[in-house]
Amino acid sequence: MALTTHAAAADDPVAKAEYRWERSPHGAMLERILPPTVAPAQLPEPNSPGARLVVAYCVQCHYLPNPAMHNSARWRSVTERMVWRMEGKGNMGQLMRDMMAEVKAPDANEQATLVHYLQKHAQRELDPKRYPDIHTQAGRRFSIACSQCHVLPDPRRHTASEWPAIVERMQRNMAWANRVTGDAALRTSPELDTADIIRFLQRHSRGK
Ligand code: HEC
Ligand code: HEC
Repeated sequence: MALTTHAAAADDPVAKAEYRWERSPHGAMLERILPPTVAPAQLPEPNSPGARLVVAYCVQCHYLPNPAMHNSARWRSVTERMVWRMEGKGNMGQLMRDMMAEVKAPDANEQATLVHYLQKHAQRELDPKRYPDIHTQAGRRFSIACSQCHVLPDPRRHTASEWPAIVERMQRNMAWANRVTGDAALRTSPELDTADIIRFLQRHSRGK
C-alpha cells in the first residue's frame, strides 16, 4: 500500500497521510477507518472551496471521505465530532495528540463551508413510506445490511445496471472496515447474501 517517499508526500495529501500512518503505532487503525474509494480529483466540484477544505482537513487521519456517504443530518454531527478530534478533544483526544502533533483544525467559517459542501453532495435517505416492501424478507435483508455505516440509501440514486457494482463495492468497504476491529467475535460477516439486496434495489431503481 503505502510506498511513500518524502518527495511524494510534500504535495499529495493522501501520500502524506500514508507516510504518517507508516510511522505511527496507531497507523493501522487509522488507515482502516475509511476505505480509499475517492481521490481528490474525483470529488464533486473538485475546485470549489468546500472540496479544497475537505482535501486540506479530512485526509489528515484517514482516507478521503466521500460526500455521498452520509445524509445532511449525519454530515453536521460527523463534522462536529471530527473538529473535536482535530482539536485533540473527545474520547480519542490522547491518541490524537500522541500521533498528530501537526494536525490542523478548521476555523468556524471553514467549518461552515465544509458542512455546506458535504450536505450539498450528500446521500438521500430511503423514505420507508414510499417502499412498503421494505418489510418483506428481501427488504429487511437490504435495510439491515445497508444501514450499518450510513443511512439506508434511496434505491432511486442509481440505475438497475449500476447497483450490482455499488453493492460489490460496499462488500469491499465492509471487509476493509473489519480488518480494524481485531476481535473476530465482534466482526460482522462480509459474506453478504447480495442477490436479494440487488433485486430489491433494482426493482426500485431510477431506470435501467
Ligand atoms: C484528527 C484526526 C481526524 C481528522 C483530521 C478527521 N477525522 Fe474523521 N475520523 C477520525 C477517527 C479517529 C475516526 C473513527 C472514530 C469516529 O468515528 O469518531 C473517524 C471517522 C470518520 C468517519 C467514519 C465514521 C462515521 O461516522 O461515518 C467519517 C465519515 C469521517 N471520519 C469524516 C471526516 C471528515 C468529513 C473530516 C474532515 C472535516 C474528518 N473526518 C477529519 C479522525 C479524524
Ligand atoms: C462497512 C460500512 C458500509 C456498509 C455496511 C455499507 N456501506 Fe455504503 N458506503 C460506505 C462508505 C465508506 C461509503 C463512501 C465510499 C464509497 O462510496 O465507497 C459508502 C457510500 C455509499 C453510497 C453513496 C456512493 C454512491 O456511489 O452512490 C451508496 C449508494 C451506498 N453506500 C450504498 C450501500 C448499500 C446498498 C449497502 C448495502 C449493501 C451499503 N452501502 C452498505 C460504507 C458502507
